[in-house]
Amino acid sequence: VLAAMGLALALSFLLCFCLHGLSSGSPYFTSLFTLGDSYIDAGNFVIMAPPAVPVWHDRPPYGMTFFGRPTGRLSDGRVTVDFIAEQFGLPLLRASLLNRSDNVSRGINFAVGGATAIDVDFYERSKLVQFKLINNSLNVQLDWFEELRPTICNKTVGECFSKALFFVGEFGVNDYNFLWNAGKTEHEVRSYVPKVVKNIAVAVEVHYCATCSAWI
Ligand SMILES: *[C@@H]1O[C@H](CO)[C@@H](O)[C@H](O)[C@H]1NC(C)=O
Ligand SMILES: *[C@@H]1O[C@H](CO)[C@@H](O)[C@H](O)[C@H]1NC(C)=O
Ligand SMILES: *[C@@H]1O[C@H](CO)[C@@H](O)[C@H](O)[C@H]1NC(C)=O
Ligand SMILES: *[C@@H]1O[C@H](CO)[C@@H](O)[C@H](O)[C@H]1NC(C)=O
Repeated sequence: VLAAMGLALALSFLLCFCLHGLSSGSPYFTSLFTLGDSYIDAGNFVIMAPPAVPVWHDRPPYGMTFFGRPTGRLSDGRVTVDFIAEQFGLPLLRASLLNRSDNVSRGINFAVGGATAIDVDFYERSKLVQFKLINNSLNVQLDWFEELRPTICNKTVGECFSKALFFVGEFGVNDYNFLWNAGKTEHEVRSYVPKVVKNIAVAVEVHYCATCSAWI
């Protein structure tokens, strides 16, 4: 299972650079949109978690070394996408559920702790989990992006997002954890890897890279 998880990690960090944006002058990005799980969540899990789910990162020492207060990040400071935003001179992304009237033209963070690559209905229907999952999968985060898209731009993806950086991941670890905790063998867990990887690949291809010439 460790090997399967390692593979998932390697495959699920898909950074989608729109290359025609890179080649048209500025090497920089003008916005950053992120989807993922607890590795980069900036507060969505704290907002989504029902009262019965224990939340521990909404209080100190979380957030204390950089923000001076807990932000809902699973870190005492910044998470990876914060450093990427800083490198490109972009604002640190807010969690998408924090304030729906915010101006998202420079980006937003859709990630939610515990998010899966496969829809949560699948785990509930097949009785792989015995509790109600938070509806936070990759496809749900994509729906949120599609809802917001018209507020950013009404033109095609290529015209609107040619200098946008989409950070998709990590996804997959929570899927493998649910399967492992459901008592699946390593062989059985491995059999889900293609499904997980396909969901991630389809998400990136269909939603973001329709007009991109390559992925990095
Ligand atoms: C939400 O965003 C709007 C627009 O940027 C701002 O006017 C408002 O004060 C924000 N609300 C909160 C609670 O931060
Ligand atoms: C949102 O911000 C962008 C740039 O930061 C600005 O050009 C745009 O006018 C803003 N939109 C609204 C509705 O305030
Ligand atoms: C999760 O949310 C999506 C909308 O993004 C909805 O279509 C789906 O039915 C929801 N699933 C569950 C299990 O609530
Ligand atoms: C896109 O169109 C919708 C509906 O006509 C409108 O509400 C929205 O403000 C438009 N977005 C931009 C960025 O112009």
